[in-house]
Amino acid sequence: MKSLSLIIATCAAFFAEAAAAVQTPGECASRHSFEIGEKDFLLDGKPFAIHCGEVHYARIPRPYWRHRLKMLRAMGMNAVGCYMFWNYHEREPGKFNWEGAADAAAFCRMAQEEGLWVVLRPGPYACAEWEGGGAPWWLMADDTANGTKPISMRSSDPRWLEPAKRWIQEVGRQLAPLQVARGGPILMVQVENEYGLHGNDANYIRALRQATIDAGFEVPLYACNPPRVIENGFVPELFQAANFGAEPAQRFEIVRKHQPKGPLMCSEYYPAWFDTWGQAHHPPKGDRQFFGPIDWMLENGASFSLYMAHGGTSFGGWSGCRNPFVPNVTSYDYEAPISEQGRANPSFAKMAERLGKHLNIGESVGTMPEPIPVKAFGEAVLSPLEKAAACGVRDGQMSRPVYSERLGMGFGLVRWRAAVPAGVSGDLKADNIHDFGYVYLDGRRIGVLDRRHRGVRIGIPASDKVRTIEILVEAMGRINSSSGMEDRKGLDGRVFVGKAEIVGWEYELEPIDPDGQENPPGNWRGTFDVDEIADTFVDMRAFNKGIVWVNGKNLGRYWKIGPQQTLYLPGCWLRKGANEIVVREMLEPAGEPSVAFLDRPILDELHPEADFNIVTREHGRFVGGAEVASGTFPSSGEPQVVMFGKPARGNYFTFQIDGVYDAKNTASIAEFDFLDAKGDPITSLDLSVSGVDSEEEIREDGVAENAIDGQVEAPWTTSSRTLPHWIEFSSGSKVEVFGFRCTPRQSGSMGRVKEWRFYAR
Ligand code: GLA
Repeated sequence: MKSLSLIIATCAAFFAEAAAAVQTPGECASRHSFEIGEKDFLLDGKPFAIHCGEVHYARIPRPYWRHRLKMLRAMGMNAVGCYMFWNYHEREPGKFNWEGAADAAAFCRMAQEEGLWVVLRPGPYACAEWEGGGAPWWLMADDTANGTKPISMRSSDPRWLEPAKRWIQEVGRQLAPLQVARGGPILMVQVENEYGLHGNDANYIRALRQATIDAGFEVPLYACNPPRVIENGFVPELFQAANFGAEPAQRFEIVRKHQPKGPLMCSEYYPAWFDTWGQAHHPPKGDRQFFGPIDWMLENGASFSLYMAHGGTSFGGWSGCRNPFVPNVTSYDYEAPISEQGRANPSFAKMAERLGKHLNIGESVGTMPEPIPVKAFGEAVLSPLEKAAACGVRDGQMSRPVYSERLGMGFGLVRWRAAVPAGVSGDLKADNIHDFGYVYLDGRRIGVLDRRHRGVRIGIPASDKVRTIEILVEAMGRINSSSGMEDRKGLDGRVFVGKAEIVGWEYELEPIDPDGQENPPGNWRGTFDVDEIADTFVDMRAFNKGIVWVNGKNLGRYWKIGPQQTLYLPGCWLRKGANEIVVREMLEPAGEPSVAFLDRPILDELHPEADFNIVTREHGRFVGGAEVASGTFPSSGEPQVVMFGKPARGNYFTFQIDGVYDAKNTASIAEFDFLDAKGDPITSLDLSVSGVDSEEEIREDGVAENAIDGQVEAPWTTSSRTLPHWIEFSSGSKVEVFGFRCTPRQSGSMGRVKEWRFYAR
């Protein structure tokens, strides 16, 4: 049986203070002890429940940090949980930024001043819908330069582990002095993040744990995982906390199998969910769904962290992307109790009421800060700019395109240009387009190469003249979830027109600073007047797809398809009088080129895609392939593992659902994993969903990709009520799988699978 080891934070002053009542950190910056007891967390030797709200300093303008922290205390929370995004701090290898908005120590000290403890989550991997899950892009700059194997992130690969350790060391230099035993607010430090969803290498986790200790952290260290994957990479020296959004009793029961003693902690409890481009906004949970589990945890003395208490914004170039490629929107509002703009949503008071009744001894609830004003500022009409500002443009030549990291660019646009010889015609095909390639033939746009739809056809007509083809490549955020993080951007590999490979390319790089820059590379510009400083929301519905800067601050990406239509513009980035707005529109404005400044966000408005050559998935009954296995699942929420008698080989695998435990014949699956001979998930597969009979996209985000995005909280749900339902996965090349694991929807029992069949072809 795996045992829980107690990691004890001691301090010289402990015995002197142990007799005092439990303190909140702000009352006294003296030293405290925090340890993991047999049943509870022990703060200065007394049972203590952590009521933590997740807030990311990188997602809030620094002038607003204090406001958000005060809100957290006014909600009755006693701690703030926060990821530290490695790539936000180490922009170039070995050069760390801890200034201004990146001053993590100042954030922790401010939390302490406001009476909050800190639960620190330095990664190196975070997920969090953040660019690359926190992994710096430069890890991919030259990993394949000499024909070597590409870097494997989140593994013992020294190209990942060594810089990751260096990062942890640097975190220690900044923050180890702020641990409780040294008079600071830091109670606990997390090691890695949901590693069980990704791999099974306990030595990798051990190495990171040791790096955290070597960096000077003596507080309890912990791992967080969805309970069903705790055993992957399990290290008994780490305290095990669990991430989930429903059914706490059942989830903690699984934790108990691995960790029979010690406090119970839900390290991420979800009030709602994040949004992705092109898919329905996630509404807040209903009261029962939201507060049922919270009440259970409060009544049972469990600790928890609300993910998110205040989501904030993934400004500039910092939003990430789900795997398979579905980019996250800019807003990280999350329908959290504290909105993106810092307002109290209805769940705020309901949470405060509950937390107020479950304070630890000596705790109090903070007072609500003054709201930050929000205002509508009318409209600005934008004019086209002749040429986008050329900041640090670099150019060069190559016979075949290579990805942008190889050319030294982490964020920005790259323009590839080549000659199409006379007589060459046919469909344009590129090996790898990450993520959108706006294709111009002799200066005229003829289509968009789209990573989401590899099958898109852009025809190059025959001509007896040489023509110039130009592909302007726009990158969205890098994949942040589970696997697939080695997400190189730009154009890479061969480009064909018909059967002819096009060679001899010139390129121009246009780097874009993910935070902002003085002369942003926009193609539209306008000004607007501000009489009184206040927050506002920039309505981008008259434009199509691109990036917005105000006074040089990069507000982030917009895309007409929604659901997000407005960008949050904090008042602290405005000035009285004239302000400048610059837009880089990748297509053309959808109407009059004007933007409005509203006093409320629009985060839930979907529009059909008009300008991209979209191929919809083929809907219809799956045929073909050989039946590999069939069976019947029980109605429980437990993951179902099926191993085949002999491995199944193929490019396409279909899971067909012939019966469901659902009166309405809806089906829903949280995760579908393919297993290797040992029964472990195969993480190296480049899987996509190539077909599905139906998916719910209106009321909830039930897209089929949810079944393979590594996130159990987001299920694939069908909209049609007609059986059978089916989902087809494609692997690019022929692969061998030995079995699968099907995890039912966890948030409620809707649509659990009964009779099923599995095919390969
Ligand atoms: C997981 C991760 C978080 C975040 C949430 C979804 O639980 O640990 O970083 O990505 O999913 O918001």
